[in-house]
Amino acid sequence: MCGIVGYIGKNVESVVIDKLKKLEYRGYDSAGIAVNSPTGFAVFKAKGEIKNLEKIVKKTDTASVGIGHTRWATHGKPDEINAHPHVSADNRWTLVHNGIIENYSEIKEKLVGQGMTFYSQTDSETVVKLLQYYDKGDRFDTISKTISALKGSFALAILRAEDNKIYFAKNKSPLYIAIKDGEALLASDVICFKGFAEEYYVIEDGEYGSVDGNALIVKNEFGLVGKAPVELDYDFGDVENVYDHYMIKEIYDTKNALLNNYEYYSNGNYKKLADLDVSCFDKVVFVGCGTAFNACLVGAKFFKEKFDVDCFTEVASEFRYSRPKLNERSLVILVSQSGETADTLAAHELAKLNKAVTVAVVNVEYSTLAKAADVCLPIKAGVEIAVASTKAYSCQVLTLYMAASILEASSRREKPNFDQVKAFLDGLSFGDTELFKRVSETIRYQQKIFMIGRGADYCTANEASLKIKETCYLNSDTYFAGELKHGFLALIDEMTYVVVFATEKEVLAKTISNAEEAYSRGARLIVFTCFDDIDKSFENKCEFIIKVRDIGSGLQAIENIIPWQLIAYYTSVSKGINPDKPRNLAKSVTVE
Ligand code: F6R
Repeated sequence: MCGIVGYIGKNVESVVIDKLKKLEYRGYDSAGIAVNSPTGFAVFKAKGEIKNLEKIVKKTDTASVGIGHTRWATHGKPDEINAHPHVSADNRWTLVHNGIIENYSEIKEKLVGQGMTFYSQTDSETVVKLLQYYDKGDRFDTISKTISALKGSFALAILRAEDNKIYFAKNKSPLYIAIKDGEALLASDVICFKGFAEEYYVIEDGEYGSVDGNALIVKNEFGLVGKAPVELDYDFGDVENVYDHYMIKEIYDTKNALLNNYEYYSNGNYKKLADLDVSCFDKVVFVGCGTAFNACLVGAKFFKEKFDVDCFTEVASEFRYSRPKLNERSLVILVSQSGETADTLAAHELAKLNKAVTVAVVNVEYSTLAKAADVCLPIKAGVEIAVASTKAYSCQVLTLYMAASILEASSRREKPNFDQVKAFLDGLSFGDTELFKRVSETIRYQQKIFMIGRGADYCTANEASLKIKETCYLNSDTYFAGELKHGFLALIDEMTYVVVFATEKEVLAKTISNAEEAYSRGARLIVFTCFDDIDKSFENKCEFIIKVRDIGSGLQAIENIIPWQLIAYYTSVSKGINPDKPRNLAKSVTVE
C-alpha cells in the first residue's frame, strides 16, 4: 500500500519528492527519502503528508541517485523511526519497500541472534539488515540471497553506498522502470512516468537487478532476463485539479468518464468478451472489495435478469476461505479500480488454479489484474486520485451493464444496442447542490445513520453508507428494508436518521411502509425516489426528499449514487476532513 520511487539524474531530491506526490494515494501517514552524498546517505523522514517531508529535505547539487517512500503503516505506528528508507547498520545499504514480509519475525530473531540491533518495528528493516548480512561484495549475489530468504510481497528500491545505481527486486507488488538519456526512474505506478518517458519496463515477480542512467540489468533465478520496453500509451486524462479536492473533481468527471466508457464499448471493443457464451457456465461469481464489491452486487443483478445462470457475489478477502467450488464451467468476474488489490488478485489466482474463466473489470489497464485475466474490460474512468471511489464506481456499474448487454446480444448473434445508455447519459445532471448542502448540514454530526433499500436500492444503500463512513467518519449501517422488524428497529430512536432508497417500482409500497415503521419509532427520514406519485402524507413525514430521474433500467443505480456522493463530499468538507485522504486509509490496498 506504500508508494516507492527511485531516481538517477539531476535535482534528485526535487524529482523524488515530486514523484512521491503522485504516489501519495498509496499511503500518506509518513514519508522519507535517501540520496547519496559525499559522506554516505543523506536520509530525511517526516510523519504525515509529503508536504511535511518537503519542508525538511535539504536540497543539494551533489546527489545523483535517490529513493523515496510514502507509507501506509502495516508494522509499527506511523512515525519517523518506522518511516522508510531504512539503512543498514554499516551504512552501506538503504532501501524503500512496498509490500509485507511475512516471515520478518523469524528473520529478525535470527539476525538479533547474530548481534544485529533493530531500531524500528517494521518488517522492511529486516530486508536491509539481510543485505548487510549477506554482503560479500557481489551486489547481485547479495540481493539474490536476500530475496530468497523472504516470504511475502515486496517491491524494493535499494541503494548501495558508492554505487551510482538503483538496485531493485520484486514479488507480488508492482514495479516499473523507465530510462531516458542518462536518467532513470523506478516507481510502483507508471503514473510517475508521465512527462518523463514514452516507454517503460515491467519488472515481473522473482526478478531483481540494477539500473543506471543508461542500462537496465534484470535477473531471475535462471540468469539474465531480456526485457522489451512497453509503450506508455495509457491515457491518464486530466489529472490537474481546479477544484478544492479531487473527490469533487472526480464526481463531476463522472459524466465524461461514463461517456468514454459508452464510446469505447459502442465502438465494438468487446470481441474477447462476446466470444464467451454464458450458457456454457454453471455459475457466474462476482468478486471485489469495498466499493468494487458494491458494484459486484449491482452487476450480479444485471446478469440474473438476463441469463438463466446462478450468480453469486463474494467479498474478495473471504473468497479463498469460503471453499468456492470452481471449475472450467465457472465464470469469475473480478472488479477492481486499481487492479492491484491483494485480496482480489488472490481470488483471481484461485479462480485460475481451478480453471475458471476470468474477466477483470478494471480502471488501471496496465495493472496486474488487467494483464492476468482471460478477458479485460476497462472501465475508462480516467485516473482516480481521491481515496473514496466515485466516478470509478459509476463506471464499474456501467461496464457490468455493458457486459451483460454484450453477452446477451452475442448469445442471439446480434449486435448490442446501447441507445438506452446514451439517452441516460445525455440527461445525466448533478442535481440540486443547495439541497445536498442542507442535507449535509443536518447529518454531519449524527451518529446513527441507517440506509435501507430493496433490490438494487439495497446495493446503492451499501455504497452510500460506505461513502459517509470513509469520508465523513459517520457511523452508518445498511439494511435490507424488509429486515427492519427482524431486529434493527430496536436501535431506532429520535436521534436516528434513516436514508431510504425507494426507486424500485415493484417494491415501492413495501419500502415506504418500512420507512413508516421507522418513522413511527421516531426516526427522521431522508428519502431518495424517482416517483412523483408518492403519497402526500408520507412525503410530509420526510425531512428531505431527493428526487432523481426514473431511468427504468439497471442504470438507475448510477443515477441514485451521484447525489449521495455529493452529500458525502459536502459533509466531509463541512467537518473539516480532507475527503481525498481520509484517516487510516489508502487508495490501493496491496496487502492482505
Ligand atoms: C471506497 C474504496 C475502496 C475500494 C476497495 C477496492 O471508496 O475506494 O473500498 O473500492 O479498496 O479497491 P479496488 O477497486 O482498487 O480493488
